[in-house]
This record gives sequence, structure tokens and C-alpha cells, in this order.
Amino acid sequence: MTELTIIRPDDFHNHLRQGELMPHLVQETEKVFGRTLVMPNTLPPVVTGEDLQRYRSELESVGADLQFLMTFKIIQETKPEMITGLKSAGAIAGKLYPQGVTTNAEDGVEDVENLFPVFEAMQQENVVLCIHGELSGVEDLQREEAFLPTLKKIHSNFSKLRIVLEHVSTEAAVQLVQELGEKVAATVTVHHLLLSTEDVRNGKLNPDHFCAPICKSEADRAALVQIALSGHPKFFFGSDSAPHSRKDKEGEHPKPGIYSTPVALPLLTGLFESHDKLDQLEDFTSRFGAEFYQLPQNQGQLSLVKEEWMVPKEYFGVVPLKKGERLKWKVMV
Ligand code: NCD
Ligand code: ZN
Repeated sequence: MTELTIIRPDDFHNHLRQGELMPHLVQETEKVFGRTLVMPNTLPPVVTGEDLQRYRSELESVGADLQFLMTFKIIQETKPEMITGLKSAGAIAGKLYPQGVTTNAEDGVEDVENLFPVFEAMQQENVVLCIHGELSGVEDLQREEAFLPTLKKIHSNFSKLRIVLEHVSTEAAVQLVQELGEKVAATVTVHHLLLSTEDVRNGKLNPDHFCAPICKSEADRAALVQIALSGHPKFFFGSDSAPHSRKDKEGEHPKPGIYSTPVALPLLTGLFESHDKLDQLEDFTSRFGAEFYQLPQNQGQLSLVKEEWMVPKEYFGVVPLKKGERLKWKVMV
């Protein structure tokens, strides 16, 4: 096959940031995706309906072709009474970050049970709970697995609440999400499908591959690939594209986050093709996520062509995944 046309994809986990970077990120996103779920870990974070509306108008002022699916950040101070207002401001999901697990999560949640009244309100309002499923204070390779009992507990207390375990990175998480029934789904990134721990650190850290959760073992990666290719409707694409400036990636404490928007679809297409599963790509990128979020399919399409191109070493001061490498598939714009 030399050309492929699919329903326009959605990115169900994207960091569009603020300031100078934001318009560039929006432009790159709208070249590929119809809709994108916008993460709320800005500074200050998106916590109230007002914050959300303000952030959405900033985004809309630069990205007329993209539909922004808005989220709010659940912090210790979030109150159940706020959920109705957030929903009418346009929120479709709230994002839970356990405290200290990733970029700008200093205000994350320490005790999940304190938030049960908030989850109750979200369940009633049919607002999705997106979870960064890592437990802090544990060695990074173990963090996701250590969080899984918490996921089980939330689900068993709120069996009608739709939950997305974001950027799954372990076989254990894949297994659990499959077991938990139709209300619990997961996003899968392109980098967790392609990289394992050795690509992140092998003697020394490669900041370009450093993200949270850290990429795990080959066996974990294989489990992710298998589930993504399998046509399982509870596993769908969310890039977790999380750009940081070169300066923030260099030095002693590089920030976690991989910028993947411009390479995501070419890489996914190559991966599905190499397993002879190109026929499953559209479900993973353009159908299953929309179904879980109870959204109609996108009207438009996206075409990719088999034509080699070289990934730039940098986009607006941000190093992308696969910088300087040649990819086989190219997005037609
Ligand atoms: C994200 C970021 O930089 O905002 N980083 C990351 O490594 N994924 C935060 C997140 O989603 O964890
Ligand atoms: Zn993220």
C-alpha cells in the first residue's frame, strides 16, 4: 500500500501549553487531528469553569480548525459543587494527578479518598475521570503497578464513572483495564509502543526519551503493541505529547515529556503496517476514543502517503521524538 486514508484522528491526551509555544503546538496538532483532549496542567492550572473558558478562548484564537475538548485539573481543593459549573463551561473530563508524579504536579492529590465526593459528582454529571496512574515515592519503574490498587478502589466505589487510565505503560495495567469492564479504558501513546527503558537510560539518561510514566520493559512494550493492534475498543490513542524547551530538557534535571505530535501518525502507521494490521489503525486513532467519550466520529479524513521524510531536529525550540530520523509514512497536508 502506498497511500492510506482514514477518518480524521483524535488525540485524547495532549499538552498544548501556554505563551509563545501554544500557537505552534495548536498548528501542528490541527494538521493531523480533528479533536484533541487538552491537558489542564498549565501554570496556573485549569481548575475552575472560568479558567477553562479563558484557556479555551486562547486556544480557539489560534486554532480555528481544531476542536478543543477541555479538561480541568482535580486538586485537593476541588469541591463537588464545582462540577456542574465546569461541565456547563464545557469540561468533558477532569484529570487526577497524584502529588509530585510529573510536570507541574506539586499541587496534585495526596489522598484520593478525600476526593470521593468529587468523583460522585463527576459520576452523576457523566464527566470522565482521567488518571495519571502513578504512585509517587516508589521507584519509577514500579510506580504504575503500585497505583493499580487505587484504580480498582475508585472503580469499585464508582462503578458508573467513566475512567481513563492515561498513557498505560505496563502489562499489568493492560491486564487490569481489560478486567475492569466497559467503564474503564486506557490511552496508549506512540512512544510507549516504540521505546523501552534502555532507550531512556542506558548508563546515562536520554532526555529526549524521558517521560512520565517512564517507558518500561520489552515485555511491557510488547503487551502494549499487542493490545493496540488487537482492536480492543477500550484502548485508544492519546499521544501525551508534552513538549519542553531544549533548555528544560538539558542540564541535570530534565523535565519529563516527549514531543510527538508531528510524528505520531507516521510512526503508528509504520508500526501497524509492520505487523500487517493497517486495517486496525483507524479504530485505534479515530473510532474507539470517540466512542468511549460518547462523541460522534469526525467528519473529515486524513491521508498518509508512503514517502520518506526526515524529522526535523527541532520544532520551535523543542526536540521531537525521532529527531533527524527518516520515517516511511508522511502526513499529506
Ligand atoms: C507531562 C508534561 O510535561 O506536562 N509530562 C510527561 O512526561 N508526560 C505531564 C504528564 O502528562 O505526565
Ligand atoms: Zn500528559
